[in-house]
Amino acid sequence: MTAPRLRWPKGFLWGAATAAHQIEGDNVGSDYWLLEHLEGSNFVEPSGDACDSWNRWREDLLLVRAMGLNAYRFSVVSASIKKKPGAFSIAALDHYRQVCSACREAGITPIVTFHHFTSPRWIAAMGGWGNPETARLFARYCDRVARALSGLIDIVCTMNEPNAQVTSFVMRGEKVFEGEAAIVARAQRAMGADRFGSYFMGDSFEVRDVCLMAHGLAREAIKAAMPDARIGMTLALQDLVACPGGEALYARIFETARRPFYEAARNDDFVGVQPYMRLYVGPRGYLAPPPGVLLNDSGNDASPDVLPAAVREGWAHARVPILVSEHGIEAEDDRVRAGHLPASIASLHPVIADGIPVLGYVHWSLLDNFEWRSGYRPRFGLHAVDRETFVRTPKPSAAGYRAIVAAARGGG
Ligand code: FCB
Repeated sequence: MTAPRLRWPKGFLWGAATAAHQIEGDNVGSDYWLLEHLEGSNFVEPSGDACDSWNRWREDLLLVRAMGLNAYRFSVVSASIKKKPGAFSIAALDHYRQVCSACREAGITPIVTFHHFTSPRWIAAMGGWGNPETARLFARYCDRVARALSGLIDIVCTMNEPNAQVTSFVMRGEKVFEGEAAIVARAQRAMGADRFGSYFMGDSFEVRDVCLMAHGLAREAIKAAMPDARIGMTLALQDLVACPGGEALYARIFETARRPFYEAARNDDFVGVQPYMRLYVGPRGYLAPPPGVLLNDSGNDASPDVLPAAVREGWAHARVPILVSEHGIEAEDDRVRAGHLPASIASLHPVIADGIPVLGYVHWSLLDNFEWRSGYRPRFGLHAVDRETFVRTPKPSAAGYRAIVAAARGGG
């Protein structure tokens, strides 16, 4: 018996995702670059040249095309665009205009994230996302980027996972993050500043509140410049399960790190859902997964049905169309990804059959890239990247994804 052919909504977006700092290289003006190079840095290695995508973005687009995808999610990097207070780099904006135009010429819908974790260092030296002024400056930046890219893009993610910092803050018992004070002190010294704050730093709910304010102001600014654009934010949405005794902590995370974002998303055109794993919440933190589940390389439960669970939760609370803006698996062994991808996509289908509006599925990631504090070790890519030559090589999972998309789009 052959499996029934799954029907997907017309115009469904099939994509792959990247983020500027993780692939472009040389993001020297960013707060992350500074943090990566601090003495005693908690990054296992610096980002360096990354995948050299600032130069090789055309090759990346060819990879997207070769998989038969019709969407590419990438981010513009604010540190290149906004090197100094009040000054925008025309050249950097022009670079991204070219990327967006090339996407359109290739029949690929660009999904552009305006802020994916990194900020200009001078923003960090103003207290970063702990300072409400950052929200106002972010809106000004969004206005400028939106005007530059107007006519070329119509799907915008304002910011990536603004709920992640508050989730980890609540999970660690709403206490000072061990080691953060020392990092901040060293970063301040390096900048000659008396403050330093990054997207993931902060020992209060302030960063969350500034992010929510920034998202609202950004949405208004972008709508004014691009009235037809669909605008939303993307959320870190691991599938959380309350274990016996963990109900109170689960409820605390939901109320502080999910509900406020879902409420904000109700005014948006979509919400980006980004699930990677199922986490088991015990009385004081996450518990080990039960035996027998599919594990990622970090030992977390990455069962395929994590994806529909997150989409259903997002829809139940935000009540706006869902974009799976990231989803994938940390797996050095690509056979794991090649099995996980079709199983996850198949498990998304009943959600769509139930009438939940899902705009598209965007796989993380197009490339093996710089995975933040963990450096280049974790592998999420559909393509391997040689760290010396930057040569990209498709993995079997890329061919698997291509086959799924061809069948879904009626070409296979
Ligand atoms: C997400 C991030 C993305 C990538 C994946 C693995 O939380 O948005 O940049 O690091 O995790």
